[in-house]
Amino acid sequence: MIKLRIVDLRSDTVTKPSPEMWDTIKLMDNSKLGDDVEGEDPTVNELEEKAAKLVGKEAALLVTSGTQGNLVSVLSQTKPGDEILLEEFNHIYAHEVGNAARIGGLMIRTYSSNKGVPSFEYLQSLIRDKENIHNPPSSLLCTENTHNYHGGAIISIDTLRRMKEFAKKNELKFHLDGARIFNAAVGLNVPVTEFTKHVDSVMFCLSKGLSCPVGSIVAGSKETIAKARKFRKMLGGGMRQAGIIAAFGLIALKPKWINRLNEDHKNAKLLAEGLKTISLPVKVHPPDTNIVIVELLEKVKIHKIINQLNNAGILAFNISKQKIRFVTHYGIDEHDVDHSIEQIGFILKKNL
Ligand SMILES: Cc1ncc(COP(=O)(O)O)c(C=O)c1O
Repeated sequence: MIKLRIVDLRSDTVTKPSPEMWDTIKLMDNSKLGDDVEGEDPTVNELEEKAAKLVGKEAALLVTSGTQGNLVSVLSQTKPGDEILLEEFNHIYAHEVGNAARIGGLMIRTYSSNKGVPSFEYLQSLIRDKENIHNPPSSLLCTENTHNYHGGAIISIDTLRRMKEFAKKNELKFHLDGARIFNAAVGLNVPVTEFTKHVDSVMFCLSKGLSCPVGSIVAGSKETIAKARKFRKMLGGGMRQAGIIAAFGLIALKPKWINRLNEDHKNAKLLAEGLKTISLPVKVHPPDTNIVIVELLEKVKIHKIINQLNNAGILAFNISKQKIRFVTHYGIDEHDVDHSIEQIGFILKKNL
């Protein structure tokens, strides 16, 4: 029986560790581990120091996931009853189970945007008047870079600078969901600090394109990270001998490994260019980084197409009734891209 070739383009969360990561883990011993809840795990401490330095912040914290990282960042910079501003397609708003409202007791106000870029006039209209007895206080502004549901779009450094000024003027803290901030940095070929210097706190994921099996980082001021550490414990994220996880992260943050993200971007471009040559009623959004969105311009049952793609070994998710998302990542090469273009083209032609 011929084995079906699987190309998993659902997300960069499906990545598995590199051989170098495994080699490092195999060389570890108990001297590299300790109780991290007591601050005694040397590998976690090394990772947190390295991560803080890399993003130009005073301190950093290893957390279990991007979701937990965003939540502890939000909790550390707000009080129950505050109102926070989230872009309408931000992961925090759309895909984190409403945790800011449920656990943080926060009011959530969404703002619309052009691929993550807000209108500052409109944002200003959302700020509550502090003097008005009826109003909850606005206390935190959030953004996401790269922006997942806007197809891995890079929000420019200048936009972040303007958002920071806006936040300062309105006495708001400013949090960046930077699950893929290194994709943005590599995409523009600038140090990641060009983005992170404009925010009070940043969360980035080790477990996406950087291909660690688990873990994310939160970075910010010493005061914010001390609060985040306590909230992490409250949420059950005190991980004890977590050096075994942090060791993967130390490899992931090497410049060579961060720059590898360029390969994913190159493959996303190849995929988009290949799909564009197929004459069909679809719009292939040109990717900034590692996410390609194919928008169906005719009304069809998108789940039928997703099922057919899956049956052909091309795994993908739809992110709306019209849009299919393909994510390139470690483990996907040019041959996989060529094969995917062929299969996706064949299936789309059958349905459109
Ligand atoms: C932009 C963004 N933020 C946060 C997360 C949450 O990360 P995790 O799945 O590790 O909780 C994701 C996950 O896909 C994401 O895409």
